[in-house]
Amino acid sequence: MDIKAIATSRLDWTGDLLAIGFYEDAVELTGDLAELNTKSGGAIAALIAEIEFKGAKSSTAVTRIGVDTPIKKVLLVGLGKAESGKLDTLRRAGATIARVAKREKASTLGISLPTWNGNSQATAQVISEGLLLALHQDNRFKSEVEPKHQLKLTEVHLLDLAGNDSAILKAQAIASGTILARELVAAPANVVTPMSLAATAEEMGKEYGFGVKILEQAECEALGMGAFLGVSLGSEMPPKFIHMTYTPPGTPRRKIAIIGKGLTFDSGGLNIKGAGSGIETMKIDMGGAAAMFGAAKAIGQIKPDVEVHFISAATENMISGRAMHPGDILTASNGKTIEINNTDAEGRLTLADALVYTDKLGLDAIVDLATLTGACIIALGDDISGLWSPDRSLADGILAAAELAGENFWQMPLAEKYFDGIKSPIADLKNTGPRGGGSITAALFLKQFVKDTPWAHLDIAGPVWSDKEHGVNNAGATGHPVRTLVNWVLS
Ligand code: BES
Ligand code: MN
Ligand code: ZN
Repeated sequence: MDIKAIATSRLDWTGDLLAIGFYEDAVELTGDLAELNTKSGGAIAALIAEIEFKGAKSSTAVTRIGVDTPIKKVLLVGLGKAESGKLDTLRRAGATIARVAKREKASTLGISLPTWNGNSQATAQVISEGLLLALHQDNRFKSEVEPKHQLKLTEVHLLDLAGNDSAILKAQAIASGTILARELVAAPANVVTPMSLAATAEEMGKEYGFGVKILEQAECEALGMGAFLGVSLGSEMPPKFIHMTYTPPGTPRRKIAIIGKGLTFDSGGLNIKGAGSGIETMKIDMGGAAAMFGAAKAIGQIKPDVEVHFISAATENMISGRAMHPGDILTASNGKTIEINNTDAEGRLTLADALVYTDKLGLDAIVDLATLTGACIIALGDDISGLWSPDRSLADGILAAAELAGENFWQMPLAEKYFDGIKSPIADLKNTGPRGGGSITAALFLKQFVKDTPWAHLDIAGPVWSDKEHGVNNAGATGHPVRTLVNWVLS
């Protein structure tokens, strides 16, 4: 499918389906639309009157104009109130239009939406993102593609947006990264393993010219990564510590790192997840690493003037005679000792050593992202990620990036008082605190492993997966928060 930004207006465009966006209570057929209505024999006005189309958010209406007419069908898309018009409204409209075009079996689609804040670049970018993300269909594990998922669409034209080809390329890069993240999350734990993630890093290194370092178990031992390796003890699969580096030509404007939690399966360990715990969904526990890879794929194509390190301590959390016991004391690579009072709080153990390693790289900022706690889902639901940071400007930068990305974050407190909850009588700290505030004590735990670098932690346990189609997401893995990460890197 090809997306082109063209100068053609909606009066002159010809093709299967012309999509026109309207803000709420501004559905008027004046100017060129009056002319288009006349050309269509009054079909557009009749449709608006018949279904009382008011432009409500996400509302749609399709009508056929005629047989052998220059435009076969018209699609009206509601954008909601103009005052609350965010950039993401246009991204979602792109997704809505894509789904209707697929259902209507259009092969050529024209899109005419209002420009956001006079910014035609951003407009072309987000409409393209919405289209590509809504049309992504993961058929890898089906033996046949269901007919309803066969796509006829070959040509998409963004009307009145000529000159924005680079914005479309950027959208394609971001969408391809988001789709990689979705496919990594959706693939089960017998397909995506620590070894396969390391292989993905090697392949991306070749494709995008990244530096790639895979630390094997022995090298992790030499670095004293006792927390990460403690988690991996119960698995038959070798742990892999993955470090990819994107280096721009010339002097980088800044140097940053993205660390993703990479648990390719989380059984809970000896504190095994019980019935009703959702253990069968725990292939998603590498959602942080998936988004890290997705961001890398986008950055590898966009090639910004920023040095970016992509890091994940990848392993499984399993049970066996060699698994860590509840009560074990592990020593992380900064020398801190950790009493394991619950083997199911494993993500923070892998991140601890990843943070110590990354902190030593001497970068300007570190962001870690993790499907870290069920408590974060209890606090914020499954559509909002938590953000913790002791650094105001870093937090603000991520929140601004998320706003433009149309991904939801809420800043949570790094309340030092709660640190009492993870003090251990026998070691420096224990890996879980009381039930209340569980996502906060998890963030406070991570903070113990960052000394010098501005740092933010994102708990993405809820939004990496969606049970229903919503906005640009189809049911299943969402690819959250690749768009936020890319915007943040570019900011
Ligand atoms: N991977 C889970 C968190 C999770 C839960 C992610 C649900 C996505 C959906 C994490 O490793 C975990 O098990 N956390 C425990 C921590 C507890 C033992 C303190 C939790 O949230 O229950
Ligand atoms: Mn766990
Ligand atoms: Zn986990």
